[in-house]
Amino acid sequence: MPAMDRPARVAGKVAIVTGAASGIGHACARQLAHEGALVVLADRNVERGQAAAEELGAPHRFAQLEVTDEEGWTRLVDEVVARAGRLDILVNGAGIGLRGSIETATLADLRQMWAVNVEGVFLGCRAAFAVMKAQGSGSLINLSSIAGIVGDADLAGYCASKGAVRMLSKSIALSGAKVGVRCNSVHPSFIDTPMVEELARQWGGSPKIRERLAQAAPMGRLGTAQEVAHLVVFLASDESAFITGAELTIDGGLSAR
Ligand SMILES: NC(=O)c1ccc[n+]([C@@H]2O[C@H](COP(=O)([O-])OP(=O)(O)OC[C@H]3O[C@@H](n4cnc5c(N)ncnc54)[C@H](O)[C@@H]3O)[C@@H](O)[C@H]2O)c1
Repeated sequence: MPAMDRPARVAGKVAIVTGAASGIGHACARQLAHEGALVVLADRNVERGQAAAEELGAPHRFAQLEVTDEEGWTRLVDEVVARAGRLDILVNGAGIGLRGSIETATLADLRQMWAVNVEGVFLGCRAAFAVMKAQGSGSLINLSSIAGIVGDADLAGYCASKGAVRMLSKSIALSGAKVGVRCNSVHPSFIDTPMVEELARQWGGSPKIRERLAQAAPMGRLGTAQEVAHLVVFLASDESAFITGAELTIDGGLSAR
């Protein structure tokens, strides 16, 4: 429940969060619910998604979604609007990260990341934009990455996909500026989630790798999903009413170098 001594920051708003079964998406769903929103937790992982929704309890609920499925997005958004009457917040948290440089990455890996990280975000924003435009308000929040701003030699396809999310978000922000729809991208450095565990495994899995990832940020540690969720709630709430088309870094100083 929201704290009693201050108003909930997204009270009465209706949100869809993708990737809500794990990591950053899960933390965003939890924090949005805590701050008063009705949250639909969308993910392709049914077991973990249902568990995450059960943890929050009604009226929050799980919806199975493969973000690359165009019809799946239409069904989900139609259903949310039919049940809740509106859609105020979309957090595109679903994403995948596969290592590989221009010398080692495969085209299949690049296409997989492009499908989930870019096409999935495009489809979600398009479906939600129509509803938000009609109601005259809404906030679209896309999880890009610091890899969408700063290059990493061993993440060629991931960098490309996250750079695309950054510019897609700015284009959407311009379409939405006169009709009440905001769109922003969020750019975390390494955050302590299952995705980073998997990347660390792909890089050899030793404790030294994890320490190297932590030291990538001048603050010398991994970020937490909860820290990203606080930023996302700010972007979802009316506190950020004049912020659109922005790229918000949350990186322990990494991009200050
Ligand atoms: N963890 C990090 O260090 C980090 C840093 C920068 C950006 N990001 C971005 O933040 C977002 C969340 O990352 P995370 O670390 O929480 O990852 P995670 O692997 O912990 O969670 C990702 C979730 O997305 C879901 N998902 C993946 N593909 C999907 C698909 N096609 N359809 C539906 N659901 C799908 C997974 O089932 C999972 O529940 C991603 O977009 C990621 O690229 C993460």
